[in-house]
Amino acid sequence: MIQYTFGLHHCRFLSGLISSLLAGLLLVLAGCVETKPKAAYRIGFSQCTGADLWRQTMLNDMKRALALHPEYTLLYKDAGNSTARQLRQIEQLAAEGIDLLIVSPNESAPITKAVDAVFKKGTPVIVLDRRITSTSYNTFISGDNVEIGRLAGRFVGSLLKGQGTVVEVTGLAGSSPAQERRQGFREQLARTPGVRVIRELDGQWERDTARHLAEREKQVLQQADVVFAHNEVMALGVQQVCKKYGLDRQIRFVGIDGLPGPVGGMQLVLDGILTATFLYPTGGEEAIEAAARILNGKAVPRETILKSFQIDASNVQALKAQSDRLYTQQRDIERQTRRIQQLTETYSSQRNRLYITLFSLVVVIVLGAWALYLVREKQAAYQQLAQQNDAIRQQKDQIEAVSRQARQATEEKLRFYSYISHEFNTPLSLILTPTEDLLARRQIDPREVKASLLLVRKNAYRLLRLVDQMLDLRKADAGKLQLNARPEDLVAFVQDIVQDFGQKAARQRIDLRLISSEPKQLLWFDRDKLDKVLFNLLSNAFKYTPRGGFIHVRLEKQAETVLVQVQDNGEGMTADEQTHIFDLFYTGGNRFTLGNGLGLALSREFVELHQGELTVQSEKGRGTTFTLLLPLGSAHLDPTDLEPAPAQQPGLPVEEEWAQAETGVTEAGARKSGTLLLVEDHDELRQYLVSRLADRFEVLAESTAEQGWERILETIPDLIISDIMLSGQTAQAMNGLQLTQRIKNDFRTSTIPVILLTAKGQMEDRIEGTRAGADAYISKPFQMAYLLETINTTLINREKWQQRYTGDYLAKTENRQEKKFLNELTALIEQKLTDTSFGVEQLSREMGLSRVQLYRKTQTLLGKNVADYFAEIRLKKARALLTETSKPIAEIAFETGFSSPAYFTTFFKQHTHQTPSEYRKSPSINA
Ligand code: FRU
Repeated sequence: MIQYTFGLHHCRFLSGLISSLLAGLLLVLAGCVETKPKAAYRIGFSQCTGADLWRQTMLNDMKRALALHPEYTLLYKDAGNSTARQLRQIEQLAAEGIDLLIVSPNESAPITKAVDAVFKKGTPVIVLDRRITSTSYNTFISGDNVEIGRLAGRFVGSLLKGQGTVVEVTGLAGSSPAQERRQGFREQLARTPGVRVIRELDGQWERDTARHLAEREKQVLQQADVVFAHNEVMALGVQQVCKKYGLDRQIRFVGIDGLPGPVGGMQLVLDGILTATFLYPTGGEEAIEAAARILNGKAVPRETILKSFQIDASNVQALKAQSDRLYTQQRDIERQTRRIQQLTETYSSQRNRLYITLFSLVVVIVLGAWALYLVREKQAAYQQLAQQNDAIRQQKDQIEAVSRQARQATEEKLRFYSYISHEFNTPLSLILTPTEDLLARRQIDPREVKASLLLVRKNAYRLLRLVDQMLDLRKADAGKLQLNARPEDLVAFVQDIVQDFGQKAARQRIDLRLISSEPKQLLWFDRDKLDKVLFNLLSNAFKYTPRGGFIHVRLEKQAETVLVQVQDNGEGMTADEQTHIFDLFYTGGNRFTLGNGLGLALSREFVELHQGELTVQSEKGRGTTFTLLLPLGSAHLDPTDLEPAPAQQPGLPVEEEWAQAETGVTEAGARKSGTLLLVEDHDELRQYLVSRLADRFEVLAESTAEQGWERILETIPDLIISDIMLSGQTAQAMNGLQLTQRIKNDFRTSTIPVILLTAKGQMEDRIEGTRAGADAYISKPFQMAYLLETINTTLINREKWQQRYTGDYLAKTENRQEKKFLNELTALIEQKLTDTSFGVEQLSREMGLSRVQLYRKTQTLLGKNVADYFAEIRLKKARALLTETSKPIAEIAFETGFSSPAYFTTFFKQHTHQTPSEYRKSPSINA
């Protein structure tokens, strides 16, 4: 079965699927792309046979015509020359649902019934080429078979010139062309009686049948002049048989159809096989055109009879050329049709692809939009999360800040209390220590008693002042400070206070002056409070002004205020110190004392009670100026501030300097048992200690760790006593712990014992002190006897060490420089003892001397050369380790700087006449 498909029908299913997928959206797209199809029709074509060339030509003619109607589907059925089969096929076509039937019946009568049935059902029918016996058709299309018969008869008559014999080979007897051609032929021959049909062969339209009959009737053929066959294939079949028997030259062959192509009738005429043939048009093209008219409701003629003509030697060439052209055109058309079909299919598949692409695009866009939406959603969620995080972080930061502040405040308070106790400890020490000292003595010099009592009284007053300040501070803190202002002469008041510091200024060679623009200045002020402020400012100035400096107090009347300035040319402050100087708990530097920290905070409170201002200007190294601005009149004061105050207690006395000089306070002639260096920043305590220790030791004293360190290097004292908390000159100043560390880490000083003296009694400080290398630790307030005892014990231990390692060379020499040299030399050797590569060369380099200088100096001081001294120290250490420890000899050898135990043994025996193990058992005195 051949099925021709044109247009979009093939992809109907697919487009249906896509259309449903694309739904509404793609309907719009499809509407844009697809043109409205013409009404599609199914044409059934029942062909009696498809085997021969004429029928193939008919089908080609139809195809050509169908190319103009792509909307038509041709359902083609080939009955293969079988009438029975054709009947079945017509029924099948009808059952499949066709819109029109074209039928070319194998035999007229038998097929008529089937065609009638189709036609009666209302299906239009076109009968092609062969007739049916009824009129059940819309149109009959065919060549003029009777006329062809006549034309053939006329031709044969003239060919035989009215005299001759003919063998007629007929088509299928039941088919109308065979009947009509015979009829026309006979009619015509009747006109030429000399021409006779000597035999009629029933070729049934088929070559083989004709050939078969020709074989059988070859005798008859021998007598024939012409063979007239109803079609060209039968003519050829007979010719081939005749040729076989050599009859082909005497017989002329005539056929019907006039087919084109290389094996068609025209070629046979050209080749001289046929003498003539007659065109029998297929009507294929006409049948399709008629079908189109019928299907489109147009009228068609009842019969269409197509013209025929004779083809012989006279016209065959022209006709052949024409038909060849047509044949080629036909091929071209077929090729183009195929191409169009391919293109249509390509177009269709591309369109499908386009649909799929568009669909995919739509899907991608939708998915993309969805993804975008999700991303946006996610971003929004992230943003929200980030905002929440930020908020949480901010809250956390706030909480942290608050807790940091709280921690800081707590730390500051703790530090404040620690300093407060330190501040209380020092005057308490200065009360308790001389008191204990006096009580412990049997005989007391009355002058000493007086000096001690003066010290006790002064420190008791200091305590009183501290307590007083603390109470004021508490009141200020609680907002309960009360101003008791009265109008008084400020100049006289300031003058009094300045005078109180006169003696102190004279002692320290400080130029103290009051410079006033007014001889007298009335001002409303609280005498008690302003006294504290000025006392505090002046104490402060004295504290930081060096000997020979100046402290100028300026008093100046301005428009609505009085200015009081306390200016000094002392140490000055850094910008940072200035910003914190009035802070109550400020401990940024080491300078915090109640004298400034607490005092200045309170002073500002007092001044602000007067609605005044207290400010500071200072420059490091150049001095400080405190400026006090107090408003004139009483309008700025609250009536409650103006109450007359109760009688004032007399002001506390200005602290007197401890009368004695710091150093060199010695009782002439007394035997001093060593040099002590005291590092203490509290002037009175330092002076007191110097005075109390000077009768037993040579005492050197310094107030800062830096100065102390210089003094240590210079003098190499036998013992160092240092306070832990040292104020120093700068914020980065060393404290006692750092000083101890430095002493212990330097080979020149590492052997000097250090006693740490401090008010801080906590365990951590002791641990820190011990870690720094301190030899003893004494808490303030301390008893003098205990301090002395500690000093003695420490010195004795030191002496033992010296004797153990260095002999008593150090003890023997009194010269400080010599002592220093020996001390350094011994400490260095001791330190490097385990280093076997350390010899005299390195020793002299580290001592900063040439080899020769070192030899000479050692020889003079010790009476032996440096190598011997080196050996002596090694031996002493070895002896000590042998007797005092159970360390193996090999280890002792290593610890005393010998490269091998054997060398150690030899060396030891050389010097002691005993092996190390013998010495360990019974140490000989000689050794
Ligand atoms: C082909 C054929 C032709 C002839 C026609 C008549 O089948 O035999 O040769 O002209 O049929 O119907």
